[in-house]
Amino acid sequence: MASCPIGAIKAPPIWRELLTWSKGPITTRAVGRALRVAGTIDLDALYRFEILCFREHRFRRDHVDWILRNERALTLVEDGPKKVTAAMMLLFEGHTCRVLSVAVAPKARRHGIGTRMMQAAEAVCLERGLSTIRLEVSTKNLVAIEFYRRLGYRTDGVLYGYYSWGEDAYSMHKAILPPSASESSRPLTSAGHTT
Ligand SMILES: CC(C)(COP(=O)(O)OP(=O)(O)OC[C@H]1O[C@@H](n2cnc3c(N)ncnc32)[C@H](O)[C@@H]1OP(=O)(O)O)[C@@H](O)C(=O)NCCC(=O)NCCS
Repeated sequence: MASCPIGAIKAPPIWRELLTWSKGPITTRAVGRALRVAGTIDLDALYRFEILCFREHRFRRDHVDWILRNERALTLVEDGPKKVTAAMMLLFEGHTCRVLSVAVAPKARRHGIGTRMMQAAEAVCLERGLSTIRLEVSTKNLVAIEFYRRLGYRTDGVLYGYYSWGEDAYSMHKAILPPSASESSRPLTSAGHTT
């Protein structure tokens, strides 16, 4: 299935309370103890993971390398007993965080790991005072569209021929609000329940 990243282009692992990154600190309070920040040392493992998760239109190895080296990008991974279980690649653009890719190993899907990764992205945004998370997803990737929709992402446009192989993409976004603000801004259903 198609990847969600940009069509043309995705510190060694440390377990500490404070993980430094060129654009600011990332605390384990934000990303949780299950996740760690990936570095260039993870290139081979992440490229193998890319092949495992995306049957086609995956990032090339040099794209993964580019992301790992990019000072505006952040890759979070969850490790399984032997290999990577989940990975998420983020790019920070002004007040916006862009999800370049999120993937969970096929055997680990549907257990909430993807949701946890996206929640970690939101927590990092909150810590950094960023207001929006954006992403693009292939209009054919129905699983991912449902996954994002369920997490509160809303479609704000169709990008025709967005990917280099010609597929269209939906542009989706979610406003990042502090927990108290997001509670009060939740829409009410006609029955009066929050959704
Ligand atoms: C999209 C992806 C990351 C979801 O990860 P996950 O860990 O399985 O997701 P979760 O378990 O947190 O699922 C949360 C919700 O998303 C929706 N969802 C997830 N997988 C789904 C599926 N196969 N069919 C329908 N809905 C699905 C469901 O609403 C689900 O909630 P539920 O299990 O209570 O019904 C995973 O399917 C994946 O890696 N896909 C391949 C890579 C990809 O396409 N990434 C996105 C574009 S870059």
